Amino acid sequence: MRVLVTGGTGHIGPYIIRDLIVAGHEVTGLARSEASEAAVSALGAKVRRGDISDLDGLKVAAADSDGVIHVAHRQDLLPSGGIDAVAAAEVQIMLAYGEALAGTGKPLVVSGSIGSPGWEGLGRPATEADPALPGGGYKGKLRVRNIVETAAIGLAEKGVRSSIVRIPPIMHSTTDNTGFLPLLIGLAKEKGVVGFPGAGANLWPAVHARDLASLFRLALEKSTAGRNWHAVGDEGIPFREIAEAIGSRLKLPAVPIPADVLMLPGYFGFLANLVTLDLPASNLITRHTLGWEPSQPGLIADLDNGHYFPTG
Ligand SMILES: NC(=O)c1ccc[n+]([C@@H]2O[C@H](COP(=O)([O-])OP(=O)(O)OC[C@H]3O[C@@H](n4cnc5c(N)ncnc54)[C@H](OP(=O)(O)O)[C@@H]3O)[C@@H](O)[C@H]2O)c1
Repeated sequence: MRVLVTGGTGHIGPYIIRDLIVAGHEVTGLARSEASEAAVSALGAKVRRGDISDLDGLKVAAADSDGVIHVAHRQDLLPSGGIDAVAAAEVQIMLAYGEALAGTGKPLVVSGSIGSPGWEGLGRPATEADPALPGGGYKGKLRVRNIVETAAIGLAEKGVRSSIVRIPPIMHSTTDNTGFLPLLIGLAKEKGVVGFPGAGANLWPAVHARDLASLFRLALEKSTAGRNWHAVGDEGIPFREIAEAIGSRLKLPAVPIPADVLMLPGYFGFLANLVTLDLPASNLITRHTLGWEPSQPGLIADLDNGHYFPTG
């Protein structure tokens, strides 16, 4: 398949491009700068110069392909317009894909998030059948993804084979420099202890970037229209275990941060809202329907591999 990939220079994108090429697809990566062109080329993909803010250009690029994987995102709008501006722009991008691909049955696979506002109280692991809940929500970043996910899924009604790959808050890999784990590790080094919220029993799902990439490919190849897929390797690790694994590597104690001081300036800072999330998520439907089998190390094993803790 001739596949257009956006976001090929980010954290997930290179894994997706490499996986697609190994599987025999012809990949074109959208690149908005010379540096991004070089990075996409080095992965073995063709390059199409373009910017996701240029919707007309994006429509032509999508129409020229047999399918699209979209993992770029307009984070440049955050400083000026906040999370709502990012959401509005991403929705327009989904609608542009809709115009380009309407009635073709071509696949469009878009990144989404495990962690809908409203899911916190589910009392069970979230499943692929749980809808993204639009609107409301105090966790802005997650709300954004909900609106974008809903727009993308809606394209199924226009004859686009659209699907969402929901990504856990922790995506781990040897090239993870800016994700949630590096933040937690940096915080622990700064504070001299590894904090966990309350009893640390809240569950966090995670996925290895290589497994995530293979799921994007399977969704491209096999998904029917309007489906959600769960890129969940670990279905739910108690936060305390994550803190202890980091602590054992850094030789720092894992300590509880009591719930009543979590929101005060102190250990977690701007992460306080996030770290209390309890987001167990199932991958059963994804595995059974698409035949996806995560094969990479789980989160705790990957932390033990040491690449998050360079020496010297
Ligand atoms: N755990 C997670 O990390 C996680 C969890 C849930 C969801 N997600 C979602 O998954 C997606 C990918 O995440 P990631 O961590 O791989 O992202 P990332 O590392 O921040 O990469 C962003 C990519 O978007 C591209 N991009 C940004 N603005 C662009 C523009 N105007 N035109 C063209 N390309 C543009 C960047 O290209 P340049 O190199 O040119 O800047 C880069 O390739 C995001 O939507 C993210 O919200 C991630």
